[in-house]
Formats: sequence, structure tokens, C-alpha cells
Amino acid sequence: MKHYIDFHEDVGIEELNYLLDIAADMKDKTKKGIKHHYLDGKTLGMIFTKSSTRTRVSFEVGMYQLGGMALFLSNNDIQIGRGETIYDTAHVLSGMLDGIMIRTFKHQDVVDLAKFGSIPVINGLTDDQHPTQMLADLLTIKEHKGSLKGLKLAYVGDGNNVANSLLQACAKAGMDVAIGSPADYTCPEKYVKQAEEDAKITGSKILMTTDPFEAAADADVIYTDTWTSMGQEAEKAKRVEIFKDYQVNSKLMGVAHKDAIFLHCLPAYRGYEVTEDVIDGPQSVVFDEAENRLHAHKAILVNCYLNS
Ligand code: CP
Ligand code: NVA
Repeated sequence: MKHYIDFHEDVGIEELNYLLDIAADMKDKTKKGIKHHYLDGKTLGMIFTKSSTRTRVSFEVGMYQLGGMALFLSNNDIQIGRGETIYDTAHVLSGMLDGIMIRTFKHQDVVDLAKFGSIPVINGLTDDQHPTQMLADLLTIKEHKGSLKGLKLAYVGDGNNVANSLLQACAKAGMDVAIGSPADYTCPEKYVKQAEEDAKITGSKILMTTDPFEAAADADVIYTDTWTSMGQEAEKAKRVEIFKDYQVNSKLMGVAHKDAIFLHCLPAYRGYEVTEDVIDGPQSVVFDEAENRLHAHKAILVNCYLNS
């Protein structure tokens, strides 16, 4: 069974290039209006226990463009929300669907869904990881910079799900990655170790620092994300105080390469993790990045479905 749950475990170094090639091909076909019904008649159940704009729309439209269909299964409407187990849900959905995409809080729930079910499972974000975002991000960087190997990506801000997945993905792609976060809000050691493991093979360098300027120095890509992820709303005031020196603004962009690009997974909060002049300025590629979710997710779907 081909799942897409954890970038480190589920995406091989060679496979990453293959996925990026399929995503680029999907984009080309979509732009030219060439039909690509690789998943004719197939179904995808999309379970959401957290909000989403990009992930939901891209998977739903993606399935349609591939000749299949997607069902939106909100936590408020399905029985998981009333306490039905992952075990039972996995068995029931495996009997009716061809695949599941799930966005939820506990990473283990996604792992269990795959373990107990018999269809591919795609992780649409957990508290720990956001692997589908990564393929779109790498595609965007490749489009703007021509290649990935040897580039430096600096992530400044909260060491959250997006940062953990960036560590995994950049190391696989042979990119140097620097994470600049406050000491108590950096990425868990597990993700740093995984990235270091892949870095030994791909030749990339990993830097973990509390200094946002050290992280951003000479970077080709500057990346940030919200200071308050879904589920952390009660901590917002405290977090704004903790992260105030980790804002991506023109001063921080000034230490990166002159032609550096700015990425953000979105949704963004202008005036907090990024200033308006940066996210709406000439170095920002955030809307290309958002659009690429569609093309990248189609590559993930085709790879999971056709290799399971
Ligand atoms: N970047 C991202 O996952 O966006 P959504 O929360 O809108 O899906
Ligand atoms: N870190 C953010 C990403 C949203 C796409 C969150 O988990 O809310």
C-alpha cells in the first residue's frame, strides 16, 4: 500500500524527483486543457477535523480533474466526531472508497487509519507534520530557481508542523535548511535527526539556531508560517510576545540573497509573522505556491493510487 503520511518515511530521494516531474506534467496538462483522467471513476474521502481552504479545494478539484470524485467529510457530520473509533472508521471507509485524505490533530490517528484500513492514506496536516504542502513548495522553488540542490532555505518563526516537514523535505531534496526559532519553540529532535540522516546522503547542511538573522543569512528562500497554529488559539497573546523578534520583514529579507524568494504556506497574518511589504512585494511567490498545491496533490494522488 502506498501511503503519503510522513515525508521522511514515505518519500524516497529518487521518488521525490519523480513526484516533482509528475506534478510539473499535471500543471502543463491543466494549463493546456489536456485531459488527464488517470483516476477515472476513483473516489477520495476527505476527513477534516480542522479548517482548510487550499488543501480541501486542491484535493477536491484535483480528483475531479483526474476523472474521479472527492467527498468532503467534516468532523461535525461524520461519526468520528461523536466518538466512533479510527479502527471502525478505517474498516468501513476501506469498503467504499479508493483512498482517504485526512487533516486532523493527532498524527497517530493518521498512522492508525492507514494501519487498520486497506486503502492509501494521505496526511493533509497533523499537529506534527504537513507533508503535502512540501511537494508544492519544492515545485514552486524549482520553478523560480531552476533546481533545488545546493539552495539554502531559511524558515523563521514557530518550529511547528510546517517547519518539521520542511526539515524532512529540504534534506531529501539536497537543500541546505536553517531553522530560526526561539529555544522552547524549535523543531523536535526527531525531525532534526531525520534531516541529518538524509543530509549525509544528499550533501545538504542543517542549521538550528535561535538567531533569525543567522538563519536568514545568504538564503535563497525565506519561509515563515503563522505563530498560532490551529488548536493553539488560547495561547495567541503569549505567542505574539514570544515571536515578535522572528518576524519576516524587509530588514530580515535584507540579509538573504538579493534574489531570494519568499514563501508562506498560508493562511498568513500580516503584521505578525510577515509584514505586508514582504508578502505583497516582488520577492513573494505565495500565490504560485498556493496554486501548486493543486498540481502537487494530483501527483501524490496518482502515485498513491496507481502504486497500491
Ligand atoms: N496551507 C494550507 O494547508 O492551507 P489550508 O489550511 O487552507 O488548507
Ligand atoms: N501551522 C499551521 C499551518 C496551516 C496550514 C497550522 O497548523 O495551523
